[in-house]
Amino acid sequence: MHTIKRPFHRLAERQFSTNIAAHAELDLKQTLQSVIPKRREQFLNVRKQYGNKPLAQTTVASTLGGMRGSPALYWESSKVDPDKGVTFHGRTIEECQQVLPHSRFDANDPNSEFLPESMFWFLLTGQIPSQAQVDSFSRTIAEQGETPEYILKILDSLPATLHPMSQLSIAITALNNNSGFAKAYEKGVSKYDFWEYAFDDAIDLIAKLPQIIGRIYQNTYHRGISSSNEPLGTIDLEKDWSYNLASALGFNSDTAHSRNIQNFNGQESNDFVNLVRLYCALHGDHEGGNVSSHTTHLVGSALSDPYLSYSAGVQGLAGPLHGLAAQEVVRFILALKEDLKLNDVSALLNNKEVDGSIVEYLWSILKSGRVIPGYGHAVLRKPDPRFDAMLQFGLKRPDTIMNKDVNFQLVHKLSQVAPEVLKQHGKTKNPFPNVDSSSGVLFYHYGLTQTLFFTVIFAGSRALGPLSQLIWDRILGLPIERPKSLDLESIIKRVE
Ligand SMILES: CC(C)(COP(=O)(O)OP(=O)(O)OC[C@H]1O[C@@H](n2cnc3c(N)ncnc32)[C@H](O)[C@@H]1OP(=O)(O)O)[C@@H](O)C(=O)NCCC(=O)NCCS
Repeated sequence: MHTIKRPFHRLAERQFSTNIAAHAELDLKQTLQSVIPKRREQFLNVRKQYGNKPLAQTTVASTLGGMRGSPALYWESSKVDPDKGVTFHGRTIEECQQVLPHSRFDANDPNSEFLPESMFWFLLTGQIPSQAQVDSFSRTIAEQGETPEYILKILDSLPATLHPMSQLSIAITALNNNSGFAKAYEKGVSKYDFWEYAFDDAIDLIAKLPQIIGRIYQNTYHRGISSSNEPLGTIDLEKDWSYNLASALGFNSDTAHSRNIQNFNGQESNDFVNLVRLYCALHGDHEGGNVSSHTTHLVGSALSDPYLSYSAGVQGLAGPLHGLAAQEVVRFILALKEDLKLNDVSALLNNKEVDGSIVEYLWSILKSGRVIPGYGHAVLRKPDPRFDAMLQFGLKRPDTIMNKDVNFQLVHKLSQVAPEVLKQHGKTKNPFPNVDSSSGVLFYHYGLTQTLFFTVIFAGSRALGPLSQLIWDRILGLPIERPKSLDLESIIKRVE
């Protein structure tokens, strides 16, 4: 039976935060605890000092148009600037790549990527963790990674035809049987202590995602595998979250822990794990206004537990206007390749004739009233730095990706020719590639060809930012969200 741990008392917390300063290596919860007093004070000061100041005047267009530009949400961990793209606690992607720890096993690999665990630590605390702190956090997550039998049984009972995102949200919703937050609330704990239970739930949820995601993949695309005797993706306690996710998918050459369904050699396996690390770290947070983040925050504001809140966010991510763009790009690239018969990488390099036929192809898409997938952005006005980081992943691997994979070559080539076409077309406010241009083809390259599944991995990564904000929502005691709605008559009355 789940036991409710007694949380730190508020007074104890204040004493604790001064005592722990003497210790070198705090764990994640202690680090969070050490930053709470200052941030809580800042928050209360801002609310007290500026509470009555107008922040912005909204327009009718905004109210009728998806609340675009309306600064209605508080979100601390990341910001999206039209020119710089996303920054995490003020740091660019490049800076994060330089300072956030990698797996300790990859210390000498120049092509390794920093860990999503490091990103979660940073998003939650605003502090850069040490290597030892991240190692120990990865271990904690791995130790909590075993998914309860009843969740696996639920997943195994679902039809393989059920959308993988529906399967994911069912599993996460059902996992709220684990929720210490829900149990504590029912017992009537003090609201000042809510955050600790939210923290424990968030870690538990993140820890269980690799096996849940892996099981959905196996059941949907490799039905019957669960009845074989080979391991389905057991958790390696020594390894990081992405490594265990790759194992759970069956995309790992470590056959002691995984089925090797792609017949990867060690290098391919290592590269795929690094792709998962990079993708998940970069997709973890993108301000609070996007549908999945905002939904998690909104549902959580009703004090629904973290499992229910995040499963609601996942359902928003399943919408074609949010999480499905990467799959659209892959389909577009495959169609482009087939229509123009571009099957040879060497024919693509420095070939002005091919460039010309691609430009013509893009114009034919635009003239038929369709969009070029992977280009444009609602906020950004420069190339998406997440696109650049994912592109670099392929450019750094010339022998296996850049000079070998036609799909990747086409993504690269499009990024050189499409912006000019879109500029001449003159409609899109941002003619540059967004992150979805490059991510899907990289998964495709490693054999994850079921494009519908990209969104499930996206959902796994999107746990990082929204759950870290949800913990802060409880720390700061944010109230239930209840914006005012207006009918057209009231709108007219207010503005005339
Ligand atoms: C991302 C996207 C939805 C942003 O929408 P937005 O904020 O309304 O974009 P804009 O303000 O630049 O749109 C202005 C016009 O340019 C067009 N436009 C935008 N991106 C375009 C693209 N990639 N190809 C062709 N036309 C595009 C829009 O359709 C719109 O045309 P309209 O005035 O006839 O309605 C949009 O750029 C798009 O549809 N891109 C392609 C799909 C995609 O990559 N989605 C992933 C998003 S991360």
